[in-house]
Order: sequence, then structure tokens, then C-alpha cells
Amino acid sequence: MNIGIIGTGNMGRALGILWAEQGHNITFGARSIDKAERAATLAGKNAKAASNRQAAEVSEVLLYTARGIHPEAVVGAGEVLKEKVLIDCNNSDVPKNFVYPAIEESLAEILQKQVPEAKVVKSFNTIAMEVFEHCPDNIKSYQISNFVCGDNEEARNLVRQLSEEIGFDTIDCGELVRARLLEQQADFIRFLLISGTRPGAAFSTPKISPVNTPRLGGKEATKLGELK
Ligand SMILES: NC(=O)c1ccc[n+]([C@@H]2O[C@H](COP(=O)([O-])OP(=O)(O)OC[C@H]3O[C@@H](n4cnc5c(N)ncnc54)[C@H](OP(=O)(O)O)[C@@H]3O)[C@@H](O)[C@H]2O)c1
Repeated sequence: MNIGIIGTGNMGRALGILWAEQGHNITFGARSIDKAERAATLAGKNAKAASNRQAAEVSEVLLYTARGIHPEAVVGAGEVLKEKVLIDCNNSDVPKNFVYPAIEESLAEILQKQVPEAKVVKSFNTIAMEVFEHCPDNIKSYQISNFVCGDNEEARNLVRQLSEEIGFDTIDCGELVRARLLEQQADFIRFLLISGTRPGAAFSTPKISPVNTPRLGGKEATKLGELK
């Protein structure tokens, strides 16, 4: 697959290298060609360096790491993002004392409105860059969850495949509106990491089968939702 990295910072470099190792053709885009070249050198034979515009032109899937910046300002105007799968790994800035405002519209939904002709998929935003350093075999053994959501099912499936290839237990959360939950989840993970409450934290969401014989009486229907 041809994958373009839009912004070769921590996330772009890490994911680009991991996908290059899986045999994908990676084009690292950055504002400075030197920066893109450094990542391409680390990634090896399946990678090359380019401008963000060129990376977008030659790729069908793009990792978008330029948080809060309109894509036109990053890849230029025109139809370069039309029909492209745009993976949004972004999270908002960390506010003082981790007092986050409620998310009424996610960064991913804003991005989708900015480029309605692209297929935005939210993913990888709940995983700290340091975790990617372990990929893929260790990640598999840790059973770390990665989440995907987006309004285009085909695009979600493609990103799920890219996530599974590098070792993540990948969970399809459906429509892009779920990005509000995923961005809040990422805010919580960053609170645990940055505050030192739980260094190296990552989500693992195991599937637990129900017991054959409930020992605690089993779950009864609740009327909590009807309480006013
Ligand atoms: N680091 C993590 O552990 C982690 C984990 C999950 C999610 N995230 C999220 O992923 C996103 C990227 O994080 P990061 O750690 O990779 O940050 P980073 O290392 O600072 O990289 C940010 C990228 O944004 C690009 N950029 C910044 N301003 C730009 C502009 N005006 N025009 C074009 N490109 C611009 C930079 O492009 P150049 O390459 O051209 O300099 C750079 O590649 C953020 O939203 C972050 O919240 C980060």
C-alpha cells in the first residue's frame, strides 16, 4: 500500500517506520526535506522523503499529524485529498492541571468537515509514541487495544488491517462521532502518563466471556436510565 505521512514528527516517524517494515511504500512528508529524509533513512528501503504535498499526491492512505491545522495549509489547495483515507491520530493540547473541557465536536469531525471529500478515520490517538517502540511482537503480547472509527466502512477496515499488522488488538467503534469518546480516552491516558500516575499506560480491553453459572445473582435489568 502507498502510505503518506503528513508531518514527520514523533507519531509520523514511528508509524511510518513500522509500516515500512511491513512492506508498505512510505512517503514521509515534512516542511523540511532534511527532516523527512532522516525518517526515510531510519525506515530503510521502502521509504522516501518528500514535501507534504508530494506525499499526499502519491499515496492512497495518509497519516495526518498536523494537529488543528487546516489541510489546505499543509498539503495545498485542490483535490489532492479526494477519496483518500485520512488517518487522524491527533489529540488536543493538555490543559493546565488536566482540566479538560467537554468535547462537543472532536478534532476528527472538524477535520472531516474541512475535507469532506476525504475518508477520515480516527485511530492511534490513544497510544503513546513510546509504545510503538515495542512493536509489533511485544505489542501483541501486551494485547494493547487500538480503536478505529469513521463514517466509511471500507476505510475503517483498511486502517484496522494496518493496525493489526503492527500488533494491536484493534476495535472497530463505528461512526466518526465516536471520535469524541476516543479523544477523551486519549486525554485520560495522557493524564495517567504525564502525571506519573501510571507510566507506560495503554488501553487493553479484553473480551470476557460470561460465566456459566452466575455466583453473584447475575445482572438484573436496571431502571437507572428512567430516573429523573
Ligand atoms: N507523541 C505521542 O505520544 C502521541 C500519541 C498519540 C497521539 N498524538 C497526537 O499526534 C499528533 C502529533 O503528535 P507528535 O507527537 O507526532 O507531535 P510532533 O512530534 O510535534 O509532530 C507534529 C507534526 O506536526 C507538523 N506541523 C506542526 N505545525 C505545522 C504547520 N504549521 N504546517 C505543517 N505541519 C505542521 C510537524 O511537521 P514537520 O514534520 O513539517 O515539522 C510535525 O511533523 C498530535 O495531535 C498529538 O496529540 C501524539
